[in-house]
Amino acid sequence: MIASPLAKKWVMGLTGLFLVSFLLVHLSGNFSLFKHDQGAAFNAYSHFMTSNPLIKVMEYGLVLGFLLHILQSLYLTIQNYSARPVRYAVPNSGESSSWNSRNMGLTGSFILVFLLVHFNSFVVKYRITKESENIYQIVVDAFQSGWGGWYWLFYVLSMVILGLHLNHGFQSAFQTFGINHKRYTPIIKGFGWIYSVAVPLGFATMPVYFRFFY
Ligand code: HEM
Repeated sequence: MIASPLAKKWVMGLTGLFLVSFLLVHLSGNFSLFKHDQGAAFNAYSHFMTSNPLIKVMEYGLVLGFLLHILQSLYLTIQNYSARPVRYAVPNSGESSSWNSRNMGLTGSFILVFLLVHFNSFVVKYRITKESENIYQIVVDAFQSGWGGWYWLFYVLSMVILGLHLNHGFQSAFQTFGINHKRYTPIIKGFGWIYSVAVPLGFATMPVYFRFFY
């Protein structure tokens, strides 16, 4: 692993931003769930995502991005617990004391659990055990009646935690990259805030819609 704490933070920031761009693509594709076409658009989108060779290559990048992000965070956490005060490679401007900033490891671990559940519910059923070719129906069934009718709530809670993680992640990445411009910094920070609220909220509308309004 990379030895310098600052380099580690760069890896966290860059892989984080890469994952952030994936989330935006995933969210926009998932919006086709709302089309009143019995899942035709969503199934076509999922089929494209699983069969297109270019997407396959990008998936390897995605897996690598997740692994690097997780491994670096583990390494950083272990270092933070060790005696040397190497926690902040770039001095933090006060936000470091917030609950959210101190618990990135906790929220990140929860997101990892969410991802494992998410994979087991959708990716495994669709691609590995091939329970059904109708991924739209798999999603609808999960949100409507999964876990005795509580699966939707796990998603909504996970999205709150994802929002917290993204919110501090953005601030932290901007700090690591040394973004410091009188005019652009507030705009970039504003973007981070809007993203960390809007994207999880967008995802959360899906379980709520299928559970209560479908
Ligand atoms: C309501 C919210 C969501 C729905 C309905 C949803 C739906 C799906 C479905 C149906 C798949 C399988 C598609 C396929 O195998 O091609 C999938 C894959 C995936 N999802 Fe989600 N997802 C949601 C939220 C999220 C979130 C919040 C994350 C990340 C934090 C995420 C990460 C992933 C990843 C990494 C994959 C695998 C992508 C790939 O292999 O190409 N999803 N999602």
